[in-house]
Amino acid sequence: MIQAIKDDIKTSVMLGLNNPDINVVVEEPKRGNADLAIPLFGLVKQLGMSMAELSSKVSAILEDNPSISETQFLNGFLNISIDRVRLSKEVIEEVLTEKEKFGNDTINQTVCIDYSAPNIAKSFSIGHLRSTMIGNALKNIYTKLGYKVIGINHLGDWGTQFGKMIVAYKLWGDRKLIEQNPITELQKLYVKFHQESESNPSLEDDARAIFKRLEDGDQEMLELWQYFRDESLKEFMSMYDLLGVSFDSYDGESFYNDKMEAIADRLDELGLLVEDDGAMIVRLGDQIPPALIKRRDGATLYITRDLAALMYRYNHYHFDKVLYVVGNEQKLHFEQLKAVTKLMGHDFDIEHVNFGLVLQDGKKMSTRGGNVVKLYDVIKEAIEQALNAITLKNPNISNKEMVAKAVGIGAVIFNDLKNDRNSEIEFNLDQMLAFEGQTGPYLQYSSVRIASILKNQTLSEISNYDIFNEPLYFELVKLLASFNQTLKKATEVNGPHVISRYLLQLSQTFNQFYGQHKIITEDEAVKQANLHLILAVRTVLNEGLRLLGMTALDEM
Ligand code: ARG
Repeated sequence: MIQAIKDDIKTSVMLGLNNPDINVVVEEPKRGNADLAIPLFGLVKQLGMSMAELSSKVSAILEDNPSISETQFLNGFLNISIDRVRLSKEVIEEVLTEKEKFGNDTINQTVCIDYSAPNIAKSFSIGHLRSTMIGNALKNIYTKLGYKVIGINHLGDWGTQFGKMIVAYKLWGDRKLIEQNPITELQKLYVKFHQESESNPSLEDDARAIFKRLEDGDQEMLELWQYFRDESLKEFMSMYDLLGVSFDSYDGESFYNDKMEAIADRLDELGLLVEDDGAMIVRLGDQIPPALIKRRDGATLYITRDLAALMYRYNHYHFDKVLYVVGNEQKLHFEQLKAVTKLMGHDFDIEHVNFGLVLQDGKKMSTRGGNVVKLYDVIKEAIEQALNAITLKNPNISNKEMVAKAVGIGAVIFNDLKNDRNSEIEFNLDQMLAFEGQTGPYLQYSSVRIASILKNQTLSEISNYDIFNEPLYFELVKLLASFNQTLKKATEVNGPHVISRYLLQLSQTFNQFYGQHKIITEDEAVKQANLHLILAVRTVLNEGLRLLGMTALDEM
């Protein structure tokens, strides 16, 4: 809404000055009292007018603009005050009528978001957790803006490792153990395969031969593979249930098994596929190493499957944009993917939405090697700790388990999404569960605080909006008014942290407001203004939490 006012001012000044070459800028100054400002220096030169002439001309143009209460020339800027009463009324009414739909948009485009994508028979890593949470938030944000979103879990369910798994299973596997603890047991088999193959290299040959049989559709091999996939997926699903995350498609790498020959053929037709020491590659110039499409034994690779997936998604979903939410370590892979599709003549809007590592005590947190942290257990631990905190704070609360789950999971999610995704994050349960500071519980608690003030109050009507001339009132109104713009900014950089930052600012400003103003006052008009304002704040805060994948609460 502020953006709409800015756009409107810009257009009317440009039209009013009647010169198609000029560019009018409308800023939101960080300092001073003005809500908006137009810098005039540049325009003076371009238009060949004096500063005095120009400033009076521009203020005359804005004279009748209903959103503006006053303009004032100062140090080369035309400062603009927004009509606070008018804007506040418009914003509060809009939030309270549209409720959770406030901020929605109608951008009618299709975006495929590829996120989570754990690997079958391997543990769900902390990187997969980051991908899941970032991808899920992006899915919610894009959906709110009117995009058609297809959330895809491109499961790592194909590749030479399945040859190894099958060999190991046939030699040492135990079905009972696997069914009790699928991923742990399958992973053990995989580790054992690598240990044994050091002294017995022929195991590697067996594995390659078996993977070839799998790719050729051998029934027995397919059944074993399906079994590993089903068991692993069961375990992944319990993680998704806990987090409240879902997908529109679970088409993983295996789905493209019968679609890869067509890709290789197409590359060949285009003269892009060349032989290199028995393998088939696509050369990508001096800057990027070649993409390996087929190995010497004919087996296809990760990038071949991604190429097939990309073409399938294009033909099937007709996307305008594809996002891959995958860690920084796959930077080269996605550069190659982009480069190959360009050579194939496609101009797809592809973005690798990359992210940094998760650290614990400053060191890379890992689910590999000796340091096996089961993420499911870590999240359960967060819920447990939240339960303790809540029981201390509010022993008589109903729904304790539900609240603890929302707070514990919310804390983990917010810790991940509060900073630019490229920065590393520190995984520290005590810190993320604190009720003060930049945490999930702080946001949830701000919402709960509003709920408890509103309890037993009756909202009628705001008879007088004059109080919205007060700075903190208007500060909150401006924040509410910029919600839609904030969502768009988040999609521009594919960064949920834009929403996180916004919610922190909204909560902090509300808490400041709460500290300075008595909300339930004698003056009925002011009281009604206060109640409506905080209800609008809560509405937007709760919707923002939902977008991040968190649950808003009525008490905690
Ligand atoms: N399964 C891969 C991994 O765990 C991530 C897949 C990401 N998506 C993709 N289309 N390549 O590293």
